[in-house]
Amino acid sequence: MYKNIETALSHIAKFAPFEDVAGASHFPIYNTGTFDLKKQNGDKIYDYTRSDNPTREMLENLFTEVENGAGCVCTHTGIASVALLFETVLKANSHIIVEADCYGGTFRLLKVFKEKYNITVHFANFLEFDNVEEILKNNPIELVLCESPTNPGLKIIDLEKVATLAHKYEALFAVDNSLATFISQKPLDLGADFSLFSTTKYISGHGAVVAGAIVAKTQELSQQIHYYANAHGRSQNPMDVYLISLGIPTLKVRMKEHQDLSIKIAQFLEKQEYIKKVTHPALKSHPQYELANKQMKYMPGVFCVDFTSEELAEKFIEKTKIFGEKCSFGSPDSRVEIPAKISHASFSKEELAAIGISDSTVRFSIGLENIEDLIEDIQQAVK
Ligand SMILES: Cc1ncc(COP(=O)(O)O)c(C=O)c1O
Repeated sequence: MYKNIETALSHIAKFAPFEDVAGASHFPIYNTGTFDLKKQNGDKIYDYTRSDNPTREMLENLFTEVENGAGCVCTHTGIASVALLFETVLKANSHIIVEADCYGGTFRLLKVFKEKYNITVHFANFLEFDNVEEILKNNPIELVLCESPTNPGLKIIDLEKVATLAHKYEALFAVDNSLATFISQKPLDLGADFSLFSTTKYISGHGAVVAGAIVAKTQELSQQIHYYANAHGRSQNPMDVYLISLGIPTLKVRMKEHQDLSIKIAQFLEKQEYIKKVTHPALKSHPQYELANKQMKYMPGVFCVDFTSEELAEKFIEKTKIFGEKCSFGSPDSRVEIPAKISHASFSKEELAAIGISDSTVRFSIGLENIEDLIEDIQQAVK
């Protein structure tokens, strides 16, 4: 509908399935369970909000457009979009390849699918391409899944390459786009079959709601996600759609500010003697720096820092005043957390060590505050 994404995001109400009689700037929240079939005579009939709701449809239409997909389901949480992906694609005894550096909730969900449906999960390092191909060659893989950048390791995966490889072996490829968001990268344009994301983070942008979405590349896959969303009751309630829609028009300016601020903080931390390593895809020291710049328009405001000791990392978290100790990312307030203890507590120490995360790794999510205030807070916390 619109040539450029910022214009689409600024006119979200235009994505509603029908025009509001008063031209409301914010499309009404259809906060209803049911619709009267006798009152409708349009092409599209609404009967029950679990299956379809005009307010939710507005957001689904927008996400479909900006991700260049064929259809979308907005889900009640971000992890519900991952669950819906599995419910749609996997059957009992299926095989799946997942990048080992993945969100702790996805890791836990995979364990559930493994235990309940005998799914074989092949964890792999997606930078070791030959190894991924070996797994695809030797197993009946239905689905390949990764994040890029990954959470928590901030690894950048070559999405175009993985898509080509997955399709060579007739597997579907899904990308968790929560960190980059569609303002920065469009996985479907790079060959993925699904792009899914937690809208809890940058997309809603204010930390006021938990939600998610999954966009399918083809009509056929779109019909499938809609079918299973209705069957499993995965859809999002209209009130939450409204909360998310409030943040959407400012996504680009927020992402740019999160990026700029986080680069400055990362560069500052890189020079401090109490820091062993800073992992931020915008820093030249990042191993996939060039790919990150090629694949993403904006870098997320999330990065990891290895302190010289676990004690120092803990003391830092305890003593910061502006940085809250909070999981999640993409809010206006800056946050820190030790992934091994919070967001990725479902991993064992060994599993985390394999993806380069230890008890002295702190994940930063930089908000929208003043740079001097943040630096001052860091300085007082390490004294
Ligand atoms: C990469 C990634 N995917 C999915 C999720 C799950 O989203 P939610 O917390 O909205 O369920 C998260 C949450 O932190 C995440 O970091």
